Amino acid sequence: MDDAPVIHTHALTKRYHGGQLAVDRLDLTVPAGSVFGFLGPNGSGKTTTIRMLMGLIEPTSGAARVLGQPVPRAARTVLPQVGALIEGPALYGFLSGRDNLLRYDAADPTADPRTRRTRVAAALERVGLTAAAGKKAKAYSLGMKQRLGLAAALLQPRRLLVLDEPTNGLDPQGMREIRSLVRELASDGTTVFLSSHPLDEIEQVCTHVAVMAQGRLVTQGPVAELAAGARGRLVVITPDTAEAARVLKEQGAADVTSEEDRVAAEPPDRDLAEVNAALVTAGVRVRGFTVERASLEDAFVALTGEGFDVAG
Ligand SMILES: Nc1ncnc2c1ncn2[C@@H]1O[C@H](COP(=O)(O)OP(=O)(O)O)[C@@H](O)[C@H]1O
Ligand SMILES: [Mg+2]
Repeated sequence: MDDAPVIHTHALTKRYHGGQLAVDRLDLTVPAGSVFGFLGPNGSGKTTTIRMLMGLIEPTSGAARVLGQPVPRAARTVLPQVGALIEGPALYGFLSGRDNLLRYDAADPTADPRTRRTRVAAALERVGLTAAAGKKAKAYSLGMKQRLGLAAALLQPRRLLVLDEPTNGLDPQGMREIRSLVRELASDGTTVFLSSHPLDEIEQVCTHVAVMAQGRLVTQGPVAELAAGARGRLVVITPDTAEAARVLKEQGAADVTSEEDRVAAEPPDRDLAEVNAALVTAGVRVRGFTVERASLEDAFVALTGEGFDVAG
């Protein structure tokens, strides 16, 4: 693993015909060996960025390097080292999963035909599709199609995997499988760059994240630093919500919200033991008193002032 970033963009910009500014002066740095989550609501510019990185569309302005090479100029030399799954793989429904992969591999001039069958079998095994390999792809569920696309990206050893919404359409079990696969690939030294819309899916597997909103980079960095930047919520479980809310405000807590038997607030800058004591002294029946860790979603909301599910 060397220290040069695996993906680096400078002021990368895409304005589509018709004027839509989809990506706006993006500066992105993806360190080698990272599992990098590229996050943002629908329409925030993730796929557009990935398509520019993969040489599928031309940037309007700015520059991008993948594995140290400028793209799209050097796309031909760099892309064989990159496995990509972009917005749902194109599949031939009338072919089996296995035949789709054989055909896909045959279209790759850098792939060795002598090892094709073995590599296809290994990729199917890796994504858990061995038993369904002979089924026609049109009979696959969305999750199986997604896994077949991932298998296509794994047909050759790669230095970088670029996965656009790889957990899209998967049930919780399927998402767990993808996460463990991503971890496994990363432990082999492959850098994994994956986009996602649901945040909590990604938080568990990423070492780094970048957050997009409306074509702009909101923040990027190691995941631990990001979540630490947003403060957690103080949560009090009590039947006496009105009184608890009053005491918390008195104690300096901001943004106090109540629902049913739960009052939440931004923790005040003081010893929380004192806050708890004040609640008890005021006669509030405290059944639970915790600080919930800030999630990436909290960080996103804190940074943009928007809910994460707002479409751009
Ligand atoms: N081919 C296209 N032509 C015009 N506008 C597009 C095209 N593709 C995407 N867009 C617009 O660009 C913005 C970013 O889209 P996209 O990159 O697909 O976001 P994401 O992948 O984060 O959902 C959206 O407003 C979308 O409508
Ligand atoms: Mg997308």
